[in-house]
Amino acid sequence: MDHTETTEKKKIILSGIQPTGVFTLGNYLGAVKNWHEMQEEYLCYYFIADLHSLTIHMEAAKRRAQTREAFALLLACGIDPEKSLVFVQSHNKFHAEMGWIMDCCSQFGELSRMTQFKDKSAKHPDNINAGLFTYPALMAGDILLYQADYVPVGADQTQHLEFTRDVATRFNHNYGETFKLPEGYFPKAGARVMSLQDPTSKMSKSDENPKATISILDEENVIMKKFKAAVTDSEASVHASEDKPGVTNLMTIYSAITGKTMEAVTKEFAGCGYGDFKEAVGTAVADELRPVREEYKRILDDRAYLDSEMKKGAERATAIASRTLTKVKKRVGLLLES
Ligand code: TYM
Repeated sequence: MDHTETTEKKKIILSGIQPTGVFTLGNYLGAVKNWHEMQEEYLCYYFIADLHSLTIHMEAAKRRAQTREAFALLLACGIDPEKSLVFVQSHNKFHAEMGWIMDCCSQFGELSRMTQFKDKSAKHPDNINAGLFTYPALMAGDILLYQADYVPVGADQTQHLEFTRDVATRFNHNYGETFKLPEGYFPKAGARVMSLQDPTSKMSKSDENPKATISILDEENVIMKKFKAAVTDSEASVHASEDKPGVTNLMTIYSAITGKTMEAVTKEFAGCGYGDFKEAVGTAVADELRPVREEYKRILDDRAYLDSEMKKGAERATAIASRTLTKVKKRVGLLLES
């Protein structure tokens, strides 16, 4: 498909995911499931945010393997490279170039207020690198390079999107109308999937307790065991409320997978014990993830296919991004090569 020709007709969707491990059920329900569903209606650009992952220390071989695996996971989750543009961020060198320009349009004060920066630097006090601090500027560049209309992400990215809009507004004001202002796109259910062991904190790839997180490649029996062991409460009543974060989280997961409203889920499990409820949630998740697991094995084994899709993605992404970057360079007064 020629992505450059259809740009004018459909709204543009852009989103990314870091290659920092197998995607969790949180990544899937908060983002990737939506990405899959948006492919028919929108012009979609999805990428593996390997440059962002450099803010975390990791062995080179592991980063390379995880980038390839993340790419294969996206395809296994139904992202179809015939319909959507799928690429690795560093394969389009314009992200780094745009990132620097966005750095110079970002204020120290606003970057200092980012909760993700505060959380991550508290968690890893031994590696508070400059990239971790300017991460939102690189992300703003990712989004603005492609003139995205909507950015489908989980709730933890809200602040970064607000930041992107602020930077774009300021740039447009200082240099003339250049960027479209992107909007976040959050799922009705699943925008914040919580840990199964501590339902007051977000489900995360980096959680050290494997029981807390469902990986989208977990086998069925593992999924069932993790849901059985999920932390709930002693009330034995399936309804959502602030003082029942465990049950509310399980209901949210069930709602996100089945498409049923929280009211419908409450009705469905009225009078039901937690044992049966957890089993139903586990089964729904296992059924949803089974095809992903099977498809992933097949795709990852086909190295030639993966390499060729990455190459095609890189070429298309570079072509699209170069148009915005040229405009941006002109606006800020960088002398273009002749
Ligand atoms: P990352 O790799 O941390 O997460 C990828 C996507 O998964 C969502 N997510 C969740 N959603 C619901 N519940 C959870 N527990 C949960 N955990 C993660 C995230 O919100 C995200 O949508 N900064 C981004 C990557 C990025 C990006 C971009 C995204 C870089 N440039 C441009 C959009 C546009 C990140 O670290 O995502």
